[in-house]
This record gives sequence, structure tokens and C-alpha cells, in this order.
Amino acid sequence: MADEELPPSRLGTKDHWDSVYEREVRVYNDVGDEGEVWFGETSVTKMRKWAHKHIKPKADGSAVRIMEAGSGNGTLLLSFLTSPAPLQDVDSARAGGQRPPKYHLTGIDYCESAAVLARSIEQSRRETLPSEIENPESDSDDDYDHDSDDEEQGCGKGLIMNDVECSWRTADLLRSDLGGEKWDLVLDKGTYDALCLSDEGIEEEGGRLPSQVYPEKIAKLVEEAGFFLITSCNFTEEEIKARYTKVGLGEYPLPRL
Ligand SMILES: C[S@@+](CC[C@H](N)C(=O)[O-])C[C@H]1O[C@@H](n2cnc3c(N)ncnc32)[C@H](O)[C@@H]1O
Repeated sequence: MADEELPPSRLGTKDHWDSVYEREVRVYNDVGDEGEVWFGETSVTKMRKWAHKHIKPKADGSAVRIMEAGSGNGTLLLSFLTSPAPLQDVDSARAGGQRPPKYHLTGIDYCESAAVLARSIEQSRRETLPSEIENPESDSDDDYDHDSDDEEQGCGKGLIMNDVECSWRTADLLRSDLGGEKWDLVLDKGTYDALCLSDEGIEEEGGRLPSQVYPEKIAKLVEEAGFFLITSCNFTEEEIKARYTKVGLGEYPLPRL
């Protein structure tokens, strides 16, 4: 049976997202507001927790490579700047006694302004996070949800800075193969939802719809034995599974979010 398509909307157009991020960059520069967190902080926390649990450090000490498709303001990827650590380990971790997780994070979005915004937020987080971690009580009015791992880790404010390199790129994921590059984990939070609201066929792909082309593009970006983790508000788990496990695409574990 053919997949049912959603009715087209402005949220499926690049013009819409360009204007969103151009405005968000202006607002960020004016008042420091980081912009919309799609599906809220809870979804960021759930996706990050899933990754911490399932993606093991590399045996050779190299960085785990994570890419967010349609990274917007970058807040999901930037949640990997820190990790929760059990309280008794925090001091030793901060003193260098425990090696922090090492990540290479790549945010890809087709809006240049999204990359501009994400870079600014990254810079600000790198400046403020170390002192917030040192003085946990001073961050009470901070939007960044440091407490959100408490129930899993039982660690209060025990956070450590991870060893993280970030790269923010501009590319249309429907029209680029990104030079054959692959990642250990590819994240999608709201991007498939957005591009399924476009009825503009992709010329380079025989005029097929974004909803059909995107899963094939994503499949090529995931390392063998890597993961694709998606949060969607427009599709059920069964619909996502059906669209991302077609013959030739491979099979992905889909945590319930
Ligand atoms: C709903 S927003 C989600 C943004 C981000 N993932 C988050 O959770 O905050 C959808 C994002 O997908 C991006 N996007 C949509 N179609 C894209 C495409 N073909 N290539 C790259 N990015 C795309 C938009 O620019 C926008 O940033």
C-alpha cells in the first residue's frame, strides 16, 4: 500500500525556514533567546539519554560521530556538550581522572541562518557551561535543563564537560549525498515532519516527493551498525518503521519516544 501523504503547508518550504531563522538570529542577538525547541526540552533529554545509553565510546579513543539532519538552532546536538556523571565521580572526572565522552557533532541544515544561530549558541554555551557546572546553584533561571537526567542517574547536578567538536554546515539533505560521508548516529527531530509537508517533487530524483527521497538519503549517511534516531509528531511508530525499513534501506532500532 502506498504511504499516505500529508497535505502541503508552508512549513515544508525553505522560504519559511529561512525567514524563521533570520528572525531567530535577530532575536538572539537582541535578547539572547535561543529560539524554538521543537517538541520541548523533554524530547532533547530523551534523545540524548538514548544516545548515551546505546552509543558506546570508540575502542580506539576516536570521537563518536553524530549528525543531526535539519539541525536548526542546534540545541539537540549542543546537549551533548555535557554528560551526567554519578556524584561520587564528578570530582574525579573534572580533575581528569575519568575520560569524558568524545563526540564529533555535525549539524546540517539547508538554511544558512540556522548555522549562524547554532554557532552563536555553541559559543555562548562553551563560555557559560563550565562555571554553571562548577556553581550549580547559579543557573536556576537558565533555560538549559541540567536537572533532566536526575531520575536516570540519581546524580543531582553532577555534570561533566564532554570532549566535543562541532561543525555546522549548510546543505539540502534531499539534493546532496554529502560526499559519501557517514555517521555513527543520525538524529532527526522534526525535520522529516517538516519536509513531508512539501509537495515539490525532487527533480534530481525523478520528481519523487521529499517524503520518499529522504529515507533513502538518510540510509546512505548511517555507518554500518550505526543508528538513526527520529522523533516525529506527524507519524506513528509503525508509519516511521514502514517508511524507513523498506527493502534496500536497512533496519533501524526505533526507541519509543
Ligand atoms: C521542525 S524544524 C526542526 C529543527 C531542529 N531539528 C530542532 O529540533 O530544533 C525542521 C528543520 O529542518 C530543516 N530542513 C527542512 N528540510 C530540509 C532539507 N531538505 N535539508 C536540510 N534541512 C532541512 C529546516 O530548515 C528546519 O531547521
